Amino acid sequence: MRKESLPSIIAPQQRARWKNDRDGIWTLDGAFLDAIPTRSILTTLWDQPRWLEAYHLYDQRGSELFEQICELPEYYLTRTENSILEAEAATIIAAAPVECIVELGAGYSKKTIHLLTEQLRQRHKGIFAPIDVSRSGLLASRDALKRDFPRLEFHGLHARYEEGFTSIDQAVPTLFVFLGSTIGNFNHSELPRFFKNFSQAMGPDDYLLLGADRLKDVAVLEKAYDDSQGLTAQFILNVFIHINRLLDSNFNTEKMRYHAQFNSEWQQIEMYAVAAETHEVHFPNVETSFNWKRDERILVEISRKFDSLRLQEQLRFFDLTPVDHFTDPDEWFSVLLFKKQC
Ligand code: TRP
Repeated sequence: MRKESLPSIIAPQQRARWKNDRDGIWTLDGAFLDAIPTRSILTTLWDQPRWLEAYHLYDQRGSELFEQICELPEYYLTRTENSILEAEAATIIAAAPVECIVELGAGYSKKTIHLLTEQLRQRHKGIFAPIDVSRSGLLASRDALKRDFPRLEFHGLHARYEEGFTSIDQAVPTLFVFLGSTIGNFNHSELPRFFKNFSQAMGPDDYLLLGADRLKDVAVLEKAYDDSQGLTAQFILNVFIHINRLLDSNFNTEKMRYHAQFNSEWQQIEMYAVAAETHEVHFPNVETSFNWKRDERILVEISRKFDSLRLQEQLRFFDLTPVDHFTDPDEWFSVLLFKKQC
């Protein structure tokens, strides 16, 4: 592997922390990707109700399953957001005069292609830096983009969002892209913490493009998170296979079932793993175990649904000024553009 120089978009004081992993892929020094998940899993599993942080879902298998979910007829989010981006990319890029596009949790970056195409068309150059905990997603998007966009400068950042965005140089005008209604996977304490840190890390010429799924008919929502092929169930239960690998635990997906429901007070889909029979779960590395009782639920994931005006109003308090709002003809999904207010 040839020695690459650090991407110019990494802030000067952060440069020592990043090392070249594979061609075009950068990773933070240290074993952060192993150490923090262990503590996160063990603390939330001992909480009441037991729950898990969302990012554990995206191991290699989880990322593949999620890509398949995005193609499901019931899962309207991806194609709806994609159609909005396709129609509005020229307007969005014209409204955000930036040099760099940073995508948070990019996966395979399929929808972002519309923005990259416009960036190159309007400005004849551009930097694209996806941040993702999934290395396989970064590698796949690197290979596809190098082929289709030879003029694009690509730097994949293998990190969690917060470690990634705090490393981006504030002096480089950047459009941060946060799609797929991933914002809906933050709970009520994660969301304000995320936006406080994110807004602080933004530079004076930075923008945020945010994809948010909207409130709608409950039957449509519940089907999107419990498809007839059972892919969503596999995706959610796969988190326990991932945890077994990380912690040497003995979760058994045969002894659990998947359940999804819309909680109308909290305006969120809740995705649970339910114990089909009482059994003991062991964590030999930390010499502990818990008794997972029949019908007890572990909250694996939430997906909050938004009122876009209310969301815009809320984000004003994090110094994010609404610039534009795009939606589809059914008003099922919102793509919101914000500018950092200084
Ligand atoms: N942000 C997506 C959503 O809320 C991703 C997601 C998380 C998801 N968990 C999921 C999608 C479970 C399908 C099933 O929809």
